Amino acid sequence: MSTAFDAGNGKITVPDILRRKTNVPSSSTQNSDPGRESGRRKIVCLTAYDYPTARLVDEAGVDIVLVGDSLGMVVLGYENTLPLTMDEMLHHTRAVRRGVRKALLVADMPYGSFHGDRNEAVRNAIRFVKEAGAEAVKVEGGERRMELIAQLVEAEIPVMGHVGLTPQSMHAFGGFRVQGKTVEAADQLLRDARAVEAAGAFSVVLESIPRELATRITSELRIPTIGIGAGPECDGQVLVLHDMIGLSLGHTPKFSRRYANVGEAISHAVTAYAEDVREGRFPSDAESYHLSSEVRERLLAVRRS
Ligand code: KIV
Repeated sequence: MSTAFDAGNGKITVPDILRRKTNVPSSSTQNSDPGRESGRRKIVCLTAYDYPTARLVDEAGVDIVLVGDSLGMVVLGYENTLPLTMDEMLHHTRAVRRGVRKALLVADMPYGSFHGDRNEAVRNAIRFVKEAGAEAVKVEGGERRMELIAQLVEAEIPVMGHVGLTPQSMHAFGGFRVQGKTVEAADQLLRDARAVEAAGAFSVVLESIPRELATRITSELRIPTIGIGAGPECDGQVLVLHDMIGLSLGHTPKFSRRYANVGEAISHAVTAYAEDVREGRFPSDAESYHLSSEVRERLLAVRRS
């Protein structure tokens, strides 16, 4: 469960992500930083939930790998994210840790892991770092999470905030709806984003909010905003891997662009395999192991005698 922190080896750290804030005037960044201009590139974040997807996503060069609690829906088949447990999240975060070398690894705190006793919430976050190798945790919620975020930062755990459509609030919201569409709701979201920043988060996910509001939040905050259904002006973007590769079996939201159809590829492969087995076309002789001629002779001799 090792993470390489040597400077210059390409490992992405929390300070690297903070330097990717796009609207900071260049005079306010350190002149000694030779990668300053390239440091303004948009942040690319994707979810991963197991070793092979983690390796593929990391090797493709994303900046942040998020073990999102979307795990519950896209991999474990729950109807929503609420039933997901700490043990399930830790199990999958460990697998992802084994596949990620360069990207920053962030683990999502599941519903119930930070909603009760504050000390237990901190202990749960520490488990992600100690037992699963996460480098940061993500916490859903705005103003209400200020104290918790500050306490986690105090415990040396970098925090990614998450405001807007926070799926763990689905019952309070009455479903999955775009947030911040009225003046009051937009004001509240602005306050939420400011609160997350003031509490010490190093970035904040803006989910399913109007583009104009995300633009306003992005221009006001000094920490990077990472959008999902929040328009192109955010400092970075995140998508659920299974949605963008066509491996989600449920509804996918309109902001989730599909870059591949892996689900269809799997179906075709399995259908072809089943046909080959049933028709005796699999395995072929080339796909079979063979005895040496000497052993074959002796085997046949034994059978004859
Ligand atoms: O759980 C998740 O995958 C997330 C992202 C969509 C931000 O929270």
